[in-house]
Amino acid sequence: MKDLLRTADLSRADVDLLLATAADFAVNPLMASSALSNKTVAIYMTKPSTRTRLASETAVAHLGGTPIFIRGDDLQLGRGETISDTAKIISEFASALIVRTYAQSDVDELGRESSIPVINALTDDDHPTQLLADWITIQENFGKDISGRKFVYLGDGNNMSHAWLIMGAIMGAHVVAATPEGKWAPDADVIAQAREIAKTSGATIEILHDPVAASKDASVLYTDVWMSMGDPEAERAEKMKVLKPFAVTQELMSLTEKDSIFMHCLPAHRGEEVAADVIDGSRSVVWREAHHRRTTIQALLYHLVRGEVKGR
Ligand code: CP
Ligand code: NVA
Repeated sequence: MKDLLRTADLSRADVDLLLATAADFAVNPLMASSALSNKTVAIYMTKPSTRTRLASETAVAHLGGTPIFIRGDDLQLGRGETISDTAKIISEFASALIVRTYAQSDVDELGRESSIPVINALTDDDHPTQLLADWITIQENFGKDISGRKFVYLGDGNNMSHAWLIMGAIMGAHVVAATPEGKWAPDADVIAQAREIAKTSGATIEILHDPVAASKDASVLYTDVWMSMGDPEAERAEKMKVLKPFAVTQELMSLTEKDSIFMHCLPAHRGEEVAADVIDGSRSVVWREAHHRRTTIQALLYHLVRGEVKGR
């Protein structure tokens, strides 16, 4: 597999390999400090980023390479140069491209038209690198035997909910997305794909619209911002109202398992999708998730450039 364009590109064996290497990089960040020596990695972002940008730039540096950060409007792409021509030029100069933008189809095209590995660092539809960090955090808390455990995403049926369902399906987990019905539910084709993957992995995919039922006996409550980058401001008031029952509060946490954890990809809005006493409380693992962003992106770059990620 040349690129990581979608969470669904990954096989179970790929995830196992990437998480094992990420654990090694956590212990010894400079274990492969010449893997990208004399090489550059382009990081092109048309949306803001704190964690993914810092994690990506430090990952490249730890592999001995040089990151080249390119902001959205820096490229001639904004002045009508095609994605295809841009992909060919970036391939001339860089050994990999990490890209964050709006349309999944743009990232897919960059992957098709580049000769170098392209990594999706968030689109409107997906966030595969986040889920690598999330899953290592899950294993850190519960080990690898997750039978009988329920992993629940609550809130907006956005890119994070998609990545959550697909990664849970790959990992054979009981995953739940509890969202409002209608336009803020996860995309039907993502749900179908998760169910398809579940047929061979043994996962259980549940789509619910009741946050209380979803939270009962959960091992994880995961949430994300209610207004994602690029969401229409005109919908804010309605969306906040519809999503209110899905806010992760101590009341919902009290329904979960005794050893349950709270997860959030960050950035967070305390008092909206999560109560401050939950995200800042003892069950919150949000800083561990953020910590694992660098090691997992480092592992991904390392194996992708070496052609060792095989795909599903
Ligand atoms: N979780 C995450 O992707 O954070 P950033 O938007 O800050 O990169
Ligand atoms: N759903 C959020 C995730 C941020 C990491 C967004 O797309 O803005």
